[in-house]
Amino acid sequence: MIRILGIETSCDETAVALYEGDMASGQGRILGECIRSQIDIHARFGGVVPEIASREHLIVLPAMVADVMAQANVDWSTLNAIAVTAGPGLMGGLLVGVSFAQAAGLANGIEVLPVHHMEGHLLAPGIDSELPEFPFVTLLVSGGHTLLVRVDGIGEYQVIGQTIDDAAGECFDKSARILGLPYPGGPEISQLARDGRPDAFSLPRPLLNRNNLDFSFSGLKTAVLYASQDADMHDAQTRRDLAASVETAICDVLVKKSLAACARESVSALVIAGGVAANRTLRSMLEVQGKKQGIRAVLPGQKYCTDNAAMIAYAGFQRMRHGLPAGEDGWDVRSRWSLSELSQSKAA
Ligand code: KG4
Ligand code: ZN
Repeated sequence: MIRILGIETSCDETAVALYEGDMASGQGRILGECIRSQIDIHARFGGVVPEIASREHLIVLPAMVADVMAQANVDWSTLNAIAVTAGPGLMGGLLVGVSFAQAAGLANGIEVLPVHHMEGHLLAPGIDSELPEFPFVTLLVSGGHTLLVRVDGIGEYQVIGQTIDDAAGECFDKSARILGLPYPGGPEISQLARDGRPDAFSLPRPLLNRNNLDFSFSGLKTAVLYASQDADMHDAQTRRDLAASVETAICDVLVKKSLAACARESVSALVIAGGVAANRTLRSMLEVQGKKQGIRAVLPGQKYCTDNAAMIAYAGFQRMRHGLPAGEDGWDVRSRWSLSELSQSKAA
């Protein structure tokens, strides 16, 4: 059995988790975990303030690590590795997590594994259920990324589609702002949309009919802005209708492009991951429309869709298990880091 401590501080969640896994079978479980969101602190600014985020991580991280070790009844001497998000993300936050991991690793003689945040999201569905057989396609949708990835194995990722401007999560967040809703906007829009009519406003589906797998969401956000200027936004039903219309427009594009990606790559399983994967409309549309096309939608538990450290510990475990590079000597944090580079480092 291998025990890995996971640390995540790349954005506005400080998260720590302890994963125990069997190297032979790849099966394992979470022994303890803790997540602390900074949403309340950043809410009044309408988005994450990087400087404040890193200070908060610094304040809460040591006690959270102690708490998770106590929950799991584990001490440093029985840990095999520390997996920490090394990028992409906010530089200050990444530095807090990585410095802590390196110091703890040095003090206790434990290996430190740098983990790509998006690889964490991508593998997260494997934590509490099983990933489908390779190859499959994953739709990775978070606050900063919208990617379609062909997955041929652990560490073998090919980005086959991505956004040319805003991410899907960003479109939810910006549309929420237009509607006067707090950050993060995805869950707020989704809540408001429950009693709204998705066809009340006719909003664009950017790039839907283009013969490629790329996305564009900035025009949609602008269309939401114009629609809100022309409508009576004091009327509760109008607000619900606009929320439902934008949610459906975003999901429509995500679902159609993801299914087109599966067809193009001749794969029969589609996994979704990242914060936006928690969206219930997206989940049900993928399931229903996937079924019609003979594609199985693999939907991870909502808990591991948004940022967490279990996915970082789990990705570290899978990388160890597959003998993948654990970071060259002197590796550093990377605020920008393409997922495709992981495959290149595997090939090297
Ligand atoms: O993966 P994540 O937690 O953090 C990043 O790595 O970015 O994703 C956060 C994003 C935010 O844009 C948030 O609005 C969106 O995920 N999100 C949702 C939902 N829950 C979170 N979007 C739509 N519906 C949701 N239920
Ligand atoms: Zn994330």
